Amino acid sequence: MSSTINISDAIALLGLSLIFLICRFVYNGIVNPLNKVPGPWYARWTTLGLKLSTLSGRRIHYVHALHQQYGPYVRLSPTEIAVNDAEGFKQVHSCTKPWDKSRWYEVMVQQKKPVFFSMAESGPHGIRRKMFARSFGKSYIRNHWEAKVAHMVNFAIDRFHDEAEGEGVADVLKWLTFMASDISAHLMFGESFHTLETGVKSHFIEVLEKVLMGNVIGSELPILRIIGKRLPIKAVQDVFNPYRLIWQYAQEAVKTMRVRVEKRNIFAEIMARVEKSEQLDDDDVTCEALGLIIAGTDTTAITMTYFIYAVLSQPQIQKSLEAEASNLPEDYSDADIEKLPLINAAIQETLRLYGATNGMLPRMVPAEGAYMSGYYIPGGTTAITQSYSLHRDANVFPDPEKFILERWLPGTTGRYRITNTARSVYSPFGAGSRTCLGIHMAYMAMRYGAAAFLRKCPGATLAPSATAECMEQQNYFLTMPAGHKCEVVL
Ligand code: HEM
Repeated sequence: MSSTINISDAIALLGLSLIFLICRFVYNGIVNPLNKVPGPWYARWTTLGLKLSTLSGRRIHYVHALHQQYGPYVRLSPTEIAVNDAEGFKQVHSCTKPWDKSRWYEVMVQQKKPVFFSMAESGPHGIRRKMFARSFGKSYIRNHWEAKVAHMVNFAIDRFHDEAEGEGVADVLKWLTFMASDISAHLMFGESFHTLETGVKSHFIEVLEKVLMGNVIGSELPILRIIGKRLPIKAVQDVFNPYRLIWQYAQEAVKTMRVRVEKRNIFAEIMARVEKSEQLDDDDVTCEALGLIIAGTDTTAITMTYFIYAVLSQPQIQKSLEAEASNLPEDYSDADIEKLPLINAAIQETLRLYGATNGMLPRMVPAEGAYMSGYYIPGGTTAITQSYSLHRDANVFPDPEKFILERWLPGTTGRYRITNTARSVYSPFGAGSRTCLGIHMAYMAMRYGAAAFLRKCPGATLAPSATAECMEQQNYFLTMPAGHKCEVVL
């Protein structure tokens, strides 16, 4: 008798679920106000187009092509739109009324506890940001970490130089990734991974690569993650459950943090300020350490790699930058490099065209909904912006695909002058209340990297393997060279 009831209950439940799905399908396809937003016909019914582009590493290109075809507002899926104009960008990333990050971040990051990067709501995020902000400020970073960063950058360029001389060719992406991960480890754990010394990819970097791949696949196809975590196959487990492999490293951050006297890692100082209110426990610190390493390593290495690629692609620009770098004093500082117009213009232009985080930044439209460029966008819709497209709007950045230093040089007038609109959408480090926490660390590492490379490797050229195809931007949340390398010859 009871099994009859169970079966009929199950059938009723199935029926209700089916009705719900049909209603949602009909609502999204026919009634949803988002139907007024232009886009491909299938976007109102399915997420498939978007998911396929994400899983094949082509999402930025897919969304960009849609903007070129349909304009600045595009329907991407039943519940998502992409926004590509200054007005909309300001709404999505407002400083005063920030739209929450979408839940996608939590699904993607999959840490034991929410971290900075993934916290959706502005309230808890604001509290955490306040705790960390001072330790990531420009003068703090310079006072406490500049010597270490300068040393590691110079060491990385020396190692690259030696390999290129010895082997005839060397991969800048490899050496810059070693450099960025050693810097991150030193900052977060108080101890470098020493990959620059060994010249061998550390276990941690290998796991990080899996974290990124597993997280993107898992966020698009959560069912794969659920199954993958349970399958007793190590290779699959490593992709979908990678944190277990690096948790012990991150716990070092907690231990080191306790060595207060020397303030050996960035958390020691943070904790000294927040301890009394006990707002951060050991798991928080461990998760944040992992999150910050992930946020700060590949981003910096990839962007610097594209700097070298872009500069070596144009020998005239390369020559003028080399001349500028050669005039730096022997004991130059970050502040000295910051004064050099050409190198800084080239860094800005690299970030415009090749910033490693130029893909989607999804936000939730607030519950009351919003009007955007005349369209009513219901609450709960995901609105995304991508700087790949914002930075390639020809009305804002003329000749958008060209690497033009003039745009960023002081005193530029005429066609390439940076307008207020250009300034307001220029967002290689995000925007509003969620702007990159590590921006000053990133700029410092890039400035030192640029100066060291230009001074130590004058006349370097791209190897034949550094083709346009190899350097094409592949996008799995981060954007990296599709060939996963950038070889250079001295
Ligand atoms: C060239 C290097 C870098 C680039 C291009 C970059 C880019 C970005 C972007 C675009 C965001 C916004 C993400 C979003 O809104 O979803 C972001 C956030 C963040 N970045 Fe970076 N980043 C870089 C380096 C770093 C470094 C070195 C660190 C740490 C040491 C770091 C830590 C963070 C954190 C914690 C957030 C989250 C901030 C928040 O939500 O309040 N980043 N970054």
